[in-house]
Amino acid sequence: MTSDKTNKSVNKIKRIVLPLSFAILLIISSIASLNSLQGPSTKTDTGEHKTERDIKKIAPVKNLKVAFISDQDTNENSKRVLRLIKAEGASMVVSAGDLSYEGGPGDWEASINDILGADYPYFIVRGNHDYRRWSEYQSLFKKRLEKMEGVSYEGDLGVKSVITYKGIRLIFLGGMRSTLQKEYEDYLTARLSADDDYIWEIVAWHKNQRLLQVGDKEDEVSYDLYDISRVEGGIIATGHSHMYTRTKLMSSFKDQQVVSDSNTLTVEKGMTFAFTSGLGGKSIDSQDATLSKNPWWASIYSKDQGANYGALFITFNSGGTANNATGYFKDIDGKVIDEFYLTKK
Ligand SMILES: [Fe+2]
Repeated sequence: MTSDKTNKSVNKIKRIVLPLSFAILLIISSIASLNSLQGPSTKTDTGEHKTERDIKKIAPVKNLKVAFISDQDTNENSKRVLRLIKAEGASMVVSAGDLSYEGGPGDWEASINDILGADYPYFIVRGNHDYRRWSEYQSLFKKRLEKMEGVSYEGDLGVKSVITYKGIRLIFLGGMRSTLQKEYEDYLTARLSADDDYIWEIVAWHKNQRLLQVGDKEDEVSYDLYDISRVEGGIIATGHSHMYTRTKLMSSFKDQQVVSDSNTLTVEKGMTFAFTSGLGGKSIDSQDATLSKNPWWASIYSKDQGANYGALFITFNSGGTANNATGYFKDIDGKVIDEFYLTKK
């Protein structure tokens, strides 16, 4: 009798425990297979967990060489810079404003067409000297974009606009004035956070903050523009100061916090660098003795260093590694005055 009771109890436990164990095993294996579909999870610096699938991003085409210039004009030196760009085999130009001064849009367009070609991918940002005839520049820019294969663009071109081309994403902010600053900051924040699909993003505008140039410019934009770009890991391209300067890797532009002195820079969310490539042909400025001593400068090429006109070249997906890029500034005498290596995390 006792034995019967025991057997009944054991059977009852089996009826409950076995299906329960099976259900638990089923849940565990479902979770495991879901994880394997998503790939291993990585915790980012911002604290969010991302899967491998999330991290897979759009890469630039292999060895995409971009020439960065500004403060161009249409004189003989300006043309020598365009010839240098052609000789270096750059795939595209980003000009951060002040396009032609007295020459005007017609002469400017003609010199680009003569040297680089009417279909050459040439992207422009509005500078302070471009205001008066901006509608003409913008219309030439639009016609050029319409002839290009594989480009997409949106917004007010060269003023508040986003362009994607050959696997990189460009955000252009043109010729800010203090009264409009907030509007540009909001636009930049929205556009940077709207699309996280590209490995490389470049934010370009024309003017500077006084401490982020070494010439005679005052605070003409805002630190927030720099730091909004930094938070998203965007490279910052500017002009206006007629020389070449590049910062070290920075974790704050407002407080000028340097991450590293190395010429190998790991760009990621929260850390980037800014440069001014303002030797496009117009003139060459002297450096300020105090500003040029600031410890966040990795490279300065001004009248004081005997600078000549030239361009910054950055090759993305260098050697077929999508997250790598190499940069150098070369002048029209063939002198390389800055070289650096980038990795995007
Ligand atoms: Fe300017």
